[in-house]
Amino acid sequence: MKPPTKDSERKKNIIAKYNSTASFYDDRYRKIQKEKYKILFRNCNLNYKTILDAGCGTGLLIEHVFNLNIDNLKKKVKYIGIDISWKMLMNFCDKSKKIKDIEDINLILGDIENLPLRQDTFNVIFSITSLQNLPVIKKGLGELIRVGRKNSLLKLSILRKQLKVDDLIAYLKTLTIDLKTEFLKNIEDVIIQGSLNKNNIIEGNI
Ligand SMILES: C[S@@+](CC[C@H](N)C(=O)[O-])C[C@H]1O[C@@H](n2cnc3c(N)ncnc32)[C@H](O)[C@@H]1O
Repeated sequence: MKPPTKDSERKKNIIAKYNSTASFYDDRYRKIQKEKYKILFRNCNLNYKTILDAGCGTGLLIEHVFNLNIDNLKKKVKYIGIDISWKMLMNFCDKSKKIKDIEDINLILGDIENLPLRQDTFNVIFSITSLQNLPVIKKGLGELIRVGRKNSLLKLSILRKQLKVDDLIAYLKTLTIDLKTEFLKNIEDVIIQGSLNKNNIIEGNI
């Protein structure tokens, strides 16, 4: 067995943190997360989209989508949520039983830095207040880009604290088109949106 590394220890702590806070996560964070979703869903058409929610937590994003009251949503959306904390996912499972409008909800216990997903699969990729937890954000971003299709929408919200925002934006600019960044007073995250420019990607170089 390989000895634990600094990164694997950090992930263990993240899992323990979210497992222990899952039961009160929604009450504490629903309101602020919804503010972020509102911004990310501006001009976002969900018709016939395959959506990835990386670090989906308890499913507040899909709850928000459901509350948008879009006609025939269940026929239009295929949703995959992935999270590293099984307790957050268990809460999501309970929630998804109540959300009957979207049939195609699939949840995976897994790591954003090593996505167990095929390349070129998703039309929209969300990752909301999750990427700051990664030991190597660019590794996670590389994975998100790998599984995204050409021109798919990338919709990120990342906690700004301790984040090298300029460095991250410079990196994303090389891989996206129309990258927009928003800093809002009442939100501690930077909101980043763009479309994937997979033409610029050289295999093994992200
Ligand atoms: C602040 S919560 C955000 C949850 C959700 N996106 C929302 O909007 O409420 C961060 C989530 O990221 C997950 N997470 C942290 N590191 C992860 C990793 N390496 N892979 C997958 N999920 C991760 C945590 O388990 C937690 O559920």
